[in-house]
This record gives sequence, structure tokens and C-alpha cells, in this order.
Amino acid sequence: MKTILSGVQPSGMLTLGNYLGAISQFVNLQNSSDDQELLFFIADLHAITVPQDATILRKNIKSLTALYLACGLDPNKSTIFVQSEVKEHSELGYILQSLTYIGELERMTQFKDKMAKQTQGVSSALLTYPVLMAADILLYNSDYVPVGVDQKQHLEMARNLAERFNSRYSDTFKIPEPLILKSGAKIMSLQDPTKKMSKSDKLDKATIFLLDDENIIRKKIASAVTDSDGFIKYDVDNKPGISNLLTIYSCCMNLSIKEAEEHFKDANYGTLKSEVSDSIIKVLKPIQDRYNEILNNNDYINKVLDTGKEKASYIASKMINKVKHKVGLGRF
Ligand code: TYM
Repeated sequence: MKTILSGVQPSGMLTLGNYLGAISQFVNLQNSSDDQELLFFIADLHAITVPQDATILRKNIKSLTALYLACGLDPNKSTIFVQSEVKEHSELGYILQSLTYIGELERMTQFKDKMAKQTQGVSSALLTYPVLMAADILLYNSDYVPVGVDQKQHLEMARNLAERFNSRYSDTFKIPEPLILKSGAKIMSLQDPTKKMSKSDKLDKATIFLLDDENIIRKKIASAVTDSDGFIKYDVDNKPGISNLLTIYSCCMNLSIKEAEEHFKDANYGTLKSEVSDSIIKVLKPIQDRYNEILNNNDYINKVLDTGKEKASYIASKMINKVKHKVGLGRF
């Protein structure tokens, strides 16, 4: 039986990029077979690598749980849990740090990007973030990790650390593989389509949030940056804005890029934008309706997270005991 695991940070509202690149993948994988172990968590320990307001963070943890459920994760099939409630993540993260070189962490692209954005000093947790991520994955002997393309380098790090540990202490961890979609793995900013769409973009209209209402979605798509060519073609280098809109449309409509291009071959940019908005609303509206129902049901959310915590802790505690034993930690 294969194990599939992934996580999302509860730092701010989730974006259309998070959904198309990652969460829609989680749901499709969940519904594709019954013979697999699925674990999806709320990566709250990752969120505190940059400053967070405690009240808002806790609210976001609940909100992300409700969104996971609203997007179609089924607690009868998938284990849903909060990362910090399974203490073995931090424990294994620390042990793996002893195998990690500072130089390799300093070379991580996301660290360099995030460091550049920090105005209040850079925490050491931001540097060691990929090690914690490796711990998240290796703790459960994950075979596959569905993610967007921006996490590829971190997955490479997890693979390296697993191999390093196995060769130093004998075979312990499986070597995980990333699952990255061909289309949708990097949804771009609506205002600068050469940059990833991100939760933390300062320009609100650069990002579609999963809970944006219909009018806001239409406004943001209407103001999306395109070009002055006037024709619709998928060409990331020369037409990044139009290519991003075609990608969003094809993902929301379950079409290939070719089919999306064909659909718009005689259309103008106005029609493209209006149909892209329709396609996003078609996907997000039912998620938003379910989200609003679930969010009021504290008992249900707590039950899902309690069950998830118990199941994840059981698997994680077996692994951490094995790891400590191999490393030589603890009593004789
Ligand atoms: P996070 O919270 O930044 O993003 C969650 C997931 O969404 C994907 N994603 C995107 N996909 C397509 N287009 C975009 N514009 C876009 N923006 C984000 C991300 O690639 C990710 O899959 N470190 C992770 C969370 C994490 C994790 C893990 C993931 C912690 N531990 C272990 C997998 C396994 C993160 O910060 O994702």
C-alpha cells in the first residue's frame, strides 16, 4: 500500500494556486483508489518561521481544516491533522538537522526569496524549514508527495536527507517522490505573470483567494495583466499573462491547454477574461458554500482533528522510536 502525504501552511487565506496546484490533487488522489494511506496536515509549525499573530494563526488553522473538508477531503479516507499536535515532527526535524549542512540550506531558493522579504530579522527556523519539511514526509514513510512546483527543491532535500540517514545508520526511510501536475503546478500572479501567485502578495488584486466572492473574482480577472497583441495563444515566454489565464481556465474546466486554446481561438481578451471568471466561480462557489456550513460546526472539526491526531501520532511514534534507537539516543 502506498502512502501519500502533503501539507499546507495556515498563513493567511488560501489561494487559487494552492487549490489548483495542490489541494485539488489531494482530492483526486484520495478518490482514485481505496488502497492507499493518505495523510494531509495543517503545517502550523511552518507558519511560525515568519512572525504570526497568535489569534489569527489559530483562526487560520480552523479555517484551513474547514477548507480541506470543503474542497472534498473525506476524513473516512484521509487522515487530517495539525502538524504541531504530533510532536514527532519537531523531534525528527531536530534529529535530521544533525545531518544537514548550513550551506545546503542557504542555497534554497525559497529561503533566499523569503529572507529578502523579511524586514524584522530572519529567524533560524526559516533557514531550517526544509529540514522540518523532510521530517514531515519521512516520518510516515511517504511514497508520494503532491505539491506545486515551488516545493520541488524542498522535496529534493527530503530525498537527500533520507539517503544520507539510510547510508549512515542503515536502511530506515523510504525515498519520497514529488507529484507535480503538468498543468496548474505554478499559477502565476495576475499582476505580474512572471511571478508565482502567492498568499502574501502585497497587491490584493494579484491573487484570487479561495473565499473571494463572485464580484471580486470578476474584478481581479478583469484587471489581470495581459499584453497588447490581441490574440490568444499559450506561449509562456512571450505571453505570460494570457498563458496564465489559459492555464487557470483549463484547470477549472478540466481541459487540456490545447483544448482551451482551441475554445478561445476566435475570441478577444474581454471574452477570455469573462469565461475565465465563470470557470473559477464554477469551481469555488460550491467550495465556499460547504466551507460556510462546516466552519460553524466546531464539534465536527474537532472530531476530525482528534481522529487525525491519534492516527498520525501512532504511525509517527513508531518511526521516531526506530530513528532514536538507530542514532543511539536515550537509555541503554
Ligand atoms: P504552501 O502552504 O506555501 O503551499 C501549499 C501548496 O500549494 C502549492 N502552491 C501552488 N501551486 C500552484 N501555483 C501556485 N501559485 C502555488 N502556490 C502554492 C505549494 O507548492 C504547496 O504544495 N512547505 C509547504 C508546506 C509543507 C509541506 C510539507 C508540503 C510543509 N511540510 C510536507 C508537502 C510535504 C508550503 O509552504 O506550502
